[in-house]
Amino acid sequence: MCGIIGILGSAPAAPRLVEALKRLEYRGYDSAGVATLEGGVIKRRRAPGKLANLERELAAAPLAGVTGIGHTRWATHGAPTTANAHPHATDRVAIVHNGIIENFRALREELIAKGHKFESETDSEVIAHLITAGLDKGEKPEAAAIGAVRRLEGAFGIAVLFAGEEDVLIGARKGSPLAVGFGDGEMFLGSDAIAVSPFTTRVMFLEEGDIAILSRAGAKVLDADGAVAQRQIHIFSGGVASVEKGNHRHFMQKEIYEQPETTGRTITRYVNAYDERVEMPDLDGVDLAADNAIIIGCGTAHYAGRVAEYWLEQIAGITVETDIASEFRYRKPAFGKKSFGVFVSQSGETADTLAALRYCKENALKTLAVVNVPESTIWREADARLPTLAGPEIGVASTKAFTAQLSALAALAIAVGRARGALSSQEEGRLVHALMETPRLITDALTAEPQIEAIAHELAHARDVLYLGRGVHYPIALEGALKLKEISYIHAEGYAAGELKHGPIALIDEDTPGVVVAPHDALFEKTLSNMQEVAARGAKLIVITDPAGAAAVKDIAKHIILAPACDAFVAPLVYSVPIQLLAYLTAVQKGTDVDQPRNLAKSVTVE
Ligand code: M6R
Repeated sequence: MCGIIGILGSAPAAPRLVEALKRLEYRGYDSAGVATLEGGVIKRRRAPGKLANLERELAAAPLAGVTGIGHTRWATHGAPTTANAHPHATDRVAIVHNGIIENFRALREELIAKGHKFESETDSEVIAHLITAGLDKGEKPEAAAIGAVRRLEGAFGIAVLFAGEEDVLIGARKGSPLAVGFGDGEMFLGSDAIAVSPFTTRVMFLEEGDIAILSRAGAKVLDADGAVAQRQIHIFSGGVASVEKGNHRHFMQKEIYEQPETTGRTITRYVNAYDERVEMPDLDGVDLAADNAIIIGCGTAHYAGRVAEYWLEQIAGITVETDIASEFRYRKPAFGKKSFGVFVSQSGETADTLAALRYCKENALKTLAVVNVPESTIWREADARLPTLAGPEIGVASTKAFTAQLSALAALAIAVGRARGALSSQEEGRLVHALMETPRLITDALTAEPQIEAIAHELAHARDVLYLGRGVHYPIALEGALKLKEISYIHAEGYAAGELKHGPIALIDEDTPGVVVAPHDALFEKTLSNMQEVAARGAKLIVITDPAGAAAVKDIAKHIILAPACDAFVAPLVYSVPIQLLAYLTAVQKGTDVDQPRNLAKSVTVE
């Protein structure tokens, strides 16, 4: 949720901290702050709101020093004010924190009783005071940090800066990710690899319970038992260029337009194009011939799972249960014997999805992660993984990660179908062929932008919008409604088209547009009947369909968004594009903050 950066550098730290925070602002943008050591003394600048406010503060009152920490905040405890902005500090210690300290009240009372003075309403500030209490007892920075961390309950990724200690930075993780970057005579800490990407490509990911003690010479890592641990250094390939907007107005727009490439990359990872066969990596004991599967995720990742539910049932003939991670984790469900769990997540850090994965592992279910961020917690804790190769996704609204998830899940459905003997090799060839055509079809779908822009001008005036779809396009309708809600703030609901007359049709009037996802497939005639019911009640229909569908709806649709004709199997991938563009262009029309919509954060690492 919050973004963290720490630098033990050889150049002025403040501009570099801000540079890193720009890449982290997608994680939270309620406030931002930095602290550096100026002649060994901790100096801070903090500001509520966007990073630009902090930049103004720094321009008015620059900070010197080559050692520092920085933070972008997604508020949990306390309003987004300057006082609640990180870094939190005493005169001896400054800290930045991502996560929630659950026992902060008890610790705070204990420290207040000992004379500590608190400035903020946050849970995080207690960390700075706990470490200071250790230093006040005569402990060295390492011992004071370890002693404090051992007393914290909850989730945290933290970076700690010590007054008078130019060559020490300490990081700790439990529940929230933390990465260590290795430069040339410089060291870095970041809440993810993107944070340190402007400075180095050599990145080490801390594991649960790790504490890292950094000096310019390197890092010493202690595991949860206090033993020295070796952690692998990875080369982070998601370089700086991929987190720039380029010529695009917003990251979301850039990411929508990257989809021919990102789906192509993901699909080719799992198919042998020459033989037209799916090729899965080693899945470490996940039995693809299983009788049933569960698919868990949150938000957009959940909707990708809902699409996969249809694919797995139709192609592989297995029973699939999909659920939202936050519900699943407290249901305590039982599992069939021949079963596996699929966990879908862009960030690989979503707290509820991670908890659901851990619940399944505790109950001996084999787990498979469909994850975009390499070496994230879900990636590492799952038994096996199907990487999605979307590259860094910065826009809070997920677009290219969604279609990359669909790409990997489509390949998985084919692999399960083959493993279960439910798919002939001819049929597998047809499906793989269709998948291979998807990047080209997505390119075609993108050409509808000017047409969609004109419709978005109208949609921007709506107060409520209904999204309708049938079969595999029902989750696409849900995803369309989510996209519109989160970036344009227009109320939208997705419904199964056939469910409409069981209640929601009462909402229909001429001011409530209906967006219908309706390729001319086996269910088209059924959806057409539903469209007629809605049109008869005055709703203005925006129908997303192919040329054959367009001919059938021309008399009832107010607007038609033309998508290319395609194999029904890959239509969810292709139809994702117009629903993304419709939401994006409507939000642009409304003038909302597309990449950083209000109240949201990219990665939800708290419950
Ligand atoms: O990182 P994850 O894929 O686990 O995140 C899940 C959801 O928080 C995410 O998809 C969210 O719904 C997006 N903002 C939707 O655009």
